Amino acid sequence: MTDDVQRAAGLHKLAVAEGAVPMGQHVCTGRRSAVWEVAERAGWTRNVALARLREAERQGLLSPPPADFEVPDLPDENPDVDALIEARTAAFRRKQVSREARRLIPVTVRLDGPIGILHMGDPHVDDDGCDWPRLRRHVDLAQTTKGLLAGNAGDMTNNWVGRLARLYAAQSTTAAQAWKLAEWFIGAVPWLYLIGGNHDAWSGDGDPVKWMAKQAGVPYETHGARLALHLPNGREIRVNARHDFRGASQWNPAHGPGKAAQLGPPDHIFVCGHKHVFGQGWHRQPNGVWSCALRVGTYKVFDGYADALGFPEHNLPAVVTLIFPDADEEGLIEVVKDPERAAEFLTWARARHAAGKTVRPCEAKAA
Ligand SMILES: [Fe+2]
Ligand SMILES: [Fe+2]
Repeated sequence: MTDDVQRAAGLHKLAVAEGAVPMGQHVCTGRRSAVWEVAERAGWTRNVALARLREAERQGLLSPPPADFEVPDLPDENPDVDALIEARTAAFRRKQVSREARRLIPVTVRLDGPIGILHMGDPHVDDDGCDWPRLRRHVDLAQTTKGLLAGNAGDMTNNWVGRLARLYAAQSTTAAQAWKLAEWFIGAVPWLYLIGGNHDAWSGDGDPVKWMAKQAGVPYETHGARLALHLPNGREIRVNARHDFRGASQWNPAHGPGKAAQLGPPDHIFVCGHKHVFGQGWHRQPNGVWSCALRVGTYKVFDGYADALGFPEHNLPAVVTLIFPDADEEGLIEVVKDPERAAEFLTWARARHAAGKTVRPCEAKAA
């Protein structure tokens, strides 16, 4: 019997090596069972072969011999697939919630009466050509004029990176000084919006402006922000601010925001910077809203690059949109190219509103 068991085990090993299906496994089409092979080769019945193979299995004769060495199963550094799917699902949900919250950011305005928004163009605060006297005057206006909010369309600093880093040799401020100036600028005004430009985006995910803005409690969006200002009288003013809107025309600097006004949601103000030129246009929406398309210029008023390429002088670093909440659609928003004049008029208009008198932009001349 012992010889038969050992013989059965040997024949089984041979049959498996030749491709037969081992005992106990499902026999699929086109393959033979090792039990049958053993029975045939030994001249036994199938039941006899099966009984001897089971005995061989019980004695451990069908198991492969132990390897000469053994390597333990090492833990995987990656989570198992179920944990991975859960993590990816949670990450997507976070992104979804974040995006949805920014689709139209609600802003509660507690200022009754006329207000203004000072839209400031590309500051490039570390550039030798940055008009700091004017920048400081405009920051002063935003700090001291009741009702005058402020926004900035991006390109806070030159932020030369990569092969452009050589350009630091052509300016008198260092990168460290540039970040100090940027930090001052970010903290100088309680910004309504602060947009990151292409120069800021060169820092990638580690954009220092993002962290400075967070420290200062200032809203900062990398490419653009869409705000819904909820005014005390129940009116909603939607501001669509980006560093740039797609589309360009050599005849119309405001072509990009104008195109967005015609194609996009019926917002009241479409404002951008980036091209260092000023342009303005208006588009009346089918629902009666007058959309103002604005491209503000730059505080970098001396620009060697523009000089070299012969760009025409068409710059205006900042403009103010005055908002008259009690006016009809035509009189709701007025653009004033001189921020100082706009601040004076706003102060007058707010005082007049506080006194219960009507405010119309044309009354500025009488003030
Ligand atoms: Fe830019
Ligand atoms: Fe710029």
